[in-house]
Amino acid sequence: MSSQKIGIVGSGLIGRAWTMLFAAAGYRVQLYDILESQLATALQELDKDLHRLEERGALRGNIRASEQFSLIGVTTRLEELTRDALHIQECVPEVLPLKQSLYSQLDELLEQQTVVASSTSTFMPSLYSEGLQKRQQMLVAHPLNPPYFIPLVEIVPAPWTSSGAVERTRDLMLSLGQRPVTLKREIQGFATNRIQYAILNEVWRLVGSGILSVADVDRVLSQGLGLRYALLGSLETAHLNAPGGVADYFQRFGGEISAVSATYGETPNTQEDRETLAEIARQCEQMVSLEKLDERRAIRDEFLIQLAKLKRQFE
Ligand code: NAI
Repeated sequence: MSSQKIGIVGSGLIGRAWTMLFAAAGYRVQLYDILESQLATALQELDKDLHRLEERGALRGNIRASEQFSLIGVTTRLEELTRDALHIQECVPEVLPLKQSLYSQLDELLEQQTVVASSTSTFMPSLYSEGLQKRQQMLVAHPLNPPYFIPLVEIVPAPWTSSGAVERTRDLMLSLGQRPVTLKREIQGFATNRIQYAILNEVWRLVGSGILSVADVDRVLSQGLGLRYALLGSLETAHLNAPGGVADYFQRFGGEISAVSATYGETPNTQEDRETLAEIARQCEQMVSLEKLDERRAIRDEFLIQLAKLKRQFE
């Protein structure tokens, strides 16, 4: 159990989720936001969420919800947040100039031992840390939503991030019970979105060309491939799918993979192909109306809680 201090910048959806993950592991957490009212709301939400999770037996860590809550403090002063911090997790909105201005401020304040990780889903760390004095202490640690139930964290270094900062962030994520992967170098989309977008592109083509409905194309994942992927990655799936393992798999099916891949066609322009977008939106809203999105999100979270328990039994 640790009493080291973690700073969280931005107390929105992701900032609050990180706060709960760190508090569950016994870290002292200080939340910073520009809005005092936002911090007050965040504290109320955290108190409610921690106790709700405890009641449902889904609280992480070995200490009670009330003890976890007592580890959480707030500040509207960045110089207070950076003081004695082991790690700072940045969770401000996904707006590059906003992140750049925040990192310039942090550059003035960061102590030597502190690593700052951005939760950004899209910005490579060089985009906001280039030119800063303490850029070797800056990197990306990208979670997936909801981070409390999805353990993956993508650690992405800038070309100048120190190997020590990368290693420490990895160890820290492991200490929370998260499952980090470390990219050797930064790349647009990191790994998750590169793979996710490859799927979205093909799903778009299949619906756009009228081959499958939205409900059916989603079933291919939710009733098919996704069930395996909740346990195995695509390469281990291939490894198990041929008598002689993965080398045998590609020997047998490599020709077919290349032949099918050659028929994919162009990358869809999802902003300009308004016809396909309208059709996808119409069918998605038939499946889940906009008023019911929150209800469906709650079902997703409940499912992920149960899946996390099941996964632990298999690991
Ligand atoms: P959000 O809009 O819920 O929260 C942002 C918070 O930052 C708000 O509390 C706001 O008051 C505060 N803020 C704004 N300017 C600030 C400043 N200059 N200094 C300090 N605080 C400031 O946003 P959300 O969804 O939590 O996203 C935060 C980051 O996490 C983004 O980089 C996003 O890309 C990333 N992320 C989001 C995911 C999601 O599903 N929402 C998933 C994975 C990553």
